[in-house]
Formats: sequence, structure tokens, C-alpha cells
Amino acid sequence: MKVRKAVIPAAGLGTRMLPATKTVPKELLPLVDKPVIQYIIEEAVASGIEDILIITNRAKSAMDDYFDYYPELENRLIKDGKLEEAAEVRRSADLANIFYVRQKETNGLGHAVYRAKRFVGDEPFAVLLGDDIMMSKTPVLRQLIDTAEEYHASTVGVQLVSDKAITKYSSVLFENVKDRVMRVLDVNEKPTLDKKFSNYAILGRYVLTPGVFDALEHTPPGHNGEIQLTDGLQLLCHRENMMAVDFEGKRYDTGNLKGFLEATVDFALADPKVGPWIADFIKQKAEKLN
Ligand code: UTP
Repeated sequence: MKVRKAVIPAAGLGTRMLPATKTVPKELLPLVDKPVIQYIIEEAVASGIEDILIITNRAKSAMDDYFDYYPELENRLIKDGKLEEAAEVRRSADLANIFYVRQKETNGLGHAVYRAKRFVGDEPFAVLLGDDIMMSKTPVLRQLIDTAEEYHASTVGVQLVSDKAITKYSSVLFENVKDRVMRVLDVNEKPTLDKKFSNYAILGRYVLTPGVFDALEHTPPGHNGEIQLTDGLQLLCHRENMMAVDFEGKRYDTGNLKGFLEATVDFALADPKVGPWIADFIKQKAEKLN
């Protein structure tokens, strides 16, 4: 089992980041000096992915422009001797083979993933949510692919979250297999506390077998009246082996303001260009606040 394809659902309305996301897709908001979605594509490529399908919508065509060549800009930069900037602009367009398909109605994450059926064909594939970014030594998707390939099974990325958080995510019923690897017995979407299976939540990364498409075809509308990916996964884990990896790394939800600000600070601190400067800036601010 080899995972070569990835799907990035990015057709959500981004209502938690308004007004910024009224006209700018949340996936294009800059984190330090790159748009959020570029970090996700870089994680996929570093995990061995070659072909990427972005699920987009009619308000997000700026995303396909970003991953295209821009000869006028590149030529001007080269003429001005700004060769590094020109190379960086070109690099973003050459990261992977990127394809697009539109989700014509915003009808949930499961509905968005189902748009990938023809692109995926008969292979296992990765799903990376367009607003979840990871900071880790080994790319988080690579950690999932290793387990998916070892067990020939769909694999979801999980981490322990608080009681307050689990009600917003999907909770996993599992049995331990080995260090950081579990077998998934059941999942439920946004459980109330009395219905949670555990505090392990699925966080933004999946490797799925094509069996998920048949499962999604048999998934009725769930939370918000939308087709939820977790409901499809519930069906899938009852039909096929499914694994979970308690992945190493920190996950940021850039789709809400606090998560976006946390990511901005942490990624700036980790960036050699601005890290020392922002560390000093934060120290000075903190001293004034004390
Ligand atoms: P979110 O719930 O985080 O995104 O969906 P959203 O719908 O944009 O958020 P808010 O609540 O309005 O701020 C998780 C992922 O699923 C995608 C989103 O783009 C995000 O990557 N998604 C969600 C779709 O592609 N289509 C949908 O119909 C819903």
C-alpha cells in the first residue's frame, strides 16, 4: 500500500475568521510570510505525496492563482536582481502536481471529500484539512502513512484534548496496539460529554482507503444537516480495519482567531529570519505588562 495522493478540503466558509475571510480565503491568510495552505502542501510533499487535489469553491479562485506561475512578477524581480524572491515565487508553483475541484454547495466535510472520488480512483489517499497546520520533527502525515502502510488500513491522526474541546471534535473508541498506535473501534462527531468515547480527538489528518466513498454514499446528513466525514468514518471502521496514531507534534487550528494568533507567534519564533527579533519583542512587551 503506497500513499501518493492527497486531498485538501478548503471549501468551508470560514465564518469564524470574519471579516477577514469575506473575500480572502482563510487558507491564504499569511502565517509569517507564507499562506497557511502552503505549510500544508509542504507537509504533504515532505511525506511523499506527489499529486494534490484542493477542494475549493467559487469564492476561492485566488488559491489556484497562488500556485500558478506569475511571469511578469518573476521577470521584474530578476531584472531588479531580487533572485531569491524570484526563486521563492516560482517554488510555490512547483511544489507538487496540484489539481482543483469545486464543491458546488457547502454541504459538509464528508460531502467535500466525496468530490475527490474520481481523482483518487482505487488508491489509498491522504486528507489534510486546509486550516489545520502542524509543527513537528517528522511530518505528521508521514507518521500516519507509516502506520497505514504497516497495517494496510485507514489511519486517523489523534491527540488527547480537554473535556471542553472534545465536544467540538470527533471522539475515538480504541484499543491499544503499540506505542502511539491504536485500533479504532468507533468514532462519534461532536459528542456531548456523556456520549464521548474518549478524550482522543481526530485532528486534521487522515489516510483513507477508497472504501470511504461507498461509506459516504450511505451516510445521511448529520450535525448541521451536513454530510460529516466522521459519520462516514464510523461506517468505514465497522466495515474495515482502521488505525489511529497519537501523532508527535503540535497542531494549530488557524480557522479560529486564537489558534491563528498562536500559530503566528510560534511559527515566527521558529523562523530564523524573525525568530530572535520577535522573541526580544515579546520579552519587552511582557516586562511592560508585569
Ligand atoms: P471547518 O468547520 O473548520 O471550516 O471545516 P469552515 O466551515 O470554513 O469553518 P467556520 O466554522 O465557518 O469558520 C473543516 C475543514 O473542512 C472544509 C473546511 O474548508 C476546512 O478545511 N470544509 C468544510 C469543506 O471543504 N466543505 C464544507 O462544506 C465544510
